Amino acid sequence: MERVGVVGCGLMGAGIAEVSARAGLDVVVVESSDGAVEAGRARLETSLARAEAKGKIESAASVLGRIRVVSDLGELADRELVVEAIVEDEDAKTELFRTLDKVVTDPDAILASNTSSIPIMKLGVVTARPHNVIGIHFFNPVPVLQLVELVPSLLTSDETTARSRSFVEGALGKQAIDCQDRAGFVVNSLLIPFVLSAIRMLESGFATAEDIDRGLVLGAAHPQGPLALADLIGLDTTKAVAESLYEEFKEPLYAAPPLLARMVDAGLLGRKSGRGFYTYS
Ligand code: NAI
Repeated sequence: MERVGVVGCGLMGAGIAEVSARAGLDVVVVESSDGAVEAGRARLETSLARAEAKGKIESAASVLGRIRVVSDLGELADRELVVEAIVEDEDAKTELFRTLDKVVTDPDAILASNTSSIPIMKLGVVTARPHNVIGIHFFNPVPVLQLVELVPSLLTSDETTARSRSFVEGALGKQAIDCQDRAGFVVNSLLIPFVLSAIRMLESGFATAEDIDRGLVLGAAHPQGPLALADLIGLDTTKAVAESLYEEFKEPLYAAPPLLARMVDAGLLGRKSGRGFYTYS
């Protein structure tokens, strides 16, 4: 595989584009507007400059030279693999998969989603090639975290899964685990209820945000506490993932607490908006 496409150049899309280009692949990233293209390019430049300064890559300029950020989905026509990383919204994603199915010309091209929680089958069935549709779920920050969850739907072919594994483990040098096509897959099914419990604990006045997080860092050796983690994931994404899990399993432990919903209403989305459970400069 040499030609990769990414849709969405936010937190995750930029990371997926970066690791693909660092692996020597040719990458086209599509954003939704000219302003978002500029923001996406700036995100990539900042991250690659940091990687160069830390000596992780030889030249940010040469990696950037393999990435084109554009606003026209038509530029994905010749891609062998497209990874979708737009907002966690089922309607937006199904509409995009319908379009990708028409735009990407190679009948063997893989159409993948980085969704955290939306069943892959829902995306596969809106295309004429559900056997080529799969979940390739990266973790944040993509350049740092090794794990990728591979999520074939009931209709995904073994060949698509094998080629996706070779992209993840062979080309990118990451490590894959296999998950069934259930909302949340393995990691978020376990992680999101944990984060939601911490939010409920804060909401009830049981402990402060700082003490909840310090408790888990100092007492359970977590690299960061659950509220800091929610800020990193993005509170909008955390809420959307919780809602998909709740929709799938109808278990109270997956229900988004009112505090999370109100913070999202208020635009307090965590690191990406400058304020969530903590304030960022
Ligand atoms: P984000 O909000 O940082 O980025 C989404 C980007 O998609 C934005 O830049 C937006 O302009 C763009 N976009 C929206 N609609 C579009 C369209 N129709 N065409 C092109 N671009 C479009 O969100 P983030 O965090 O990068 O999440 C993206 C996906 O990755 C979601 O499905 C999320 O569940 C998943 N994910 C998120 C993780 C996280 O820690 N934030 C971890 C793993 C997966």
